[in-house]
Amino acid sequence: MTEFIGFIGDIKFHPPIMNASGVLCTTEEDLQAVLESRAGACVTKTMTLEPREGNPKPRCFWTQDFSVNSMGIPNKGVEYYVEAARRLKKYQKPMIASMAGLQKEEYFLLSEKLEKSDFHAIEVNLSCPNLEGKEIFAYDFQLAKEVLYQLRKRISKPMGVKLPPYSSRYHIQEIAKILLEVSVDFVSLSNSFPLGTAILSEKEETAILPNGGIGGLGGKAFRPIVLGQILLFQRHFKGQIPIIGVGGIEKGVHLYEHLLAGASLFQIGTALLREGPFLFQKILEEANHIFQQKGLSSYRDKCGKVKAPSPKDQKE
Ligand code: DHB
Repeated sequence: MTEFIGFIGDIKFHPPIMNASGVLCTTEEDLQAVLESRAGACVTKTMTLEPREGNPKPRCFWTQDFSVNSMGIPNKGVEYYVEAARRLKKYQKPMIASMAGLQKEEYFLLSEKLEKSDFHAIEVNLSCPNLEGKEIFAYDFQLAKEVLYQLRKRISKPMGVKLPPYSSRYHIQEIAKILLEVSVDFVSLSNSFPLGTAILSEKEETAILPNGGIGGLGGKAFRPIVLGQILLFQRHFKGQIPIIGVGGIEKGVHLYEHLLAGASLFQIGTALLREGPFLFQKILEEANHIFQQKGLSSYRDKCGKVKAPSPKDQKE
């Protein structure tokens, strides 16, 4: 049997598969459903200091190929999740709190509450694309650096960052340098592509209402983009920061692609939204089958080990 146990610091993820923040994680019952499934951990909906209703509906749309959402961070507020974690710790699986400030100072207030909570780790969301009139924090390197430095001083639990996708190698180099300097404990790659839309041709309408029909795009269509992010970040990190791969994982083979690119933990978003928590079992079985076929003693032997193709005998 191949060992399939991931680590963030000394927190053990067995198996290293969980929901992506935003899917099946807004209420205590949602989180309970994840913890009762074959997932090895859960992540909360991104929480803010106060509860939020979020954007007007329709605000989420999905097909077999992709999802688009502009939810606007509907969540129950930090106090609710701190209370829920107090009860959910009985499952003895790692619980990750995803949090985002609407302004810089809110990140610090959230960190104080979460530091004292039963959550095992904190995923700092610097990449919410759906707040009208606000830029994504992680596209402003100076701001991101300042927030992360301040948080690192306040948070002793394992602290990670959820980043948006970047479209420049230079930007990836810059943000990777900051993450290494701050010494974050993990990086989740990536949040959805921020400027997607879906158009319903019959109705001649956008599928979602908020933000002029524009929202974060994820799912199968997003997977090659995320694999590129993981590959590039991994080359900067050189194994020093674990990467959680998130984007387009629907089958064991997709998890294996994320692993080869450099992820050692895995989150499921769009496919979980569509198929429900039984999906964890299916992905786990498929991934284990691949590991066994390859004769691996630990899946980590393949982390970041993707090779270049041989240049000979290629038509193009
Ligand atoms: C929401 C979307 C995100 O991509 C995210 O990281 C946090 C919140 C939302 O719209 O609710």
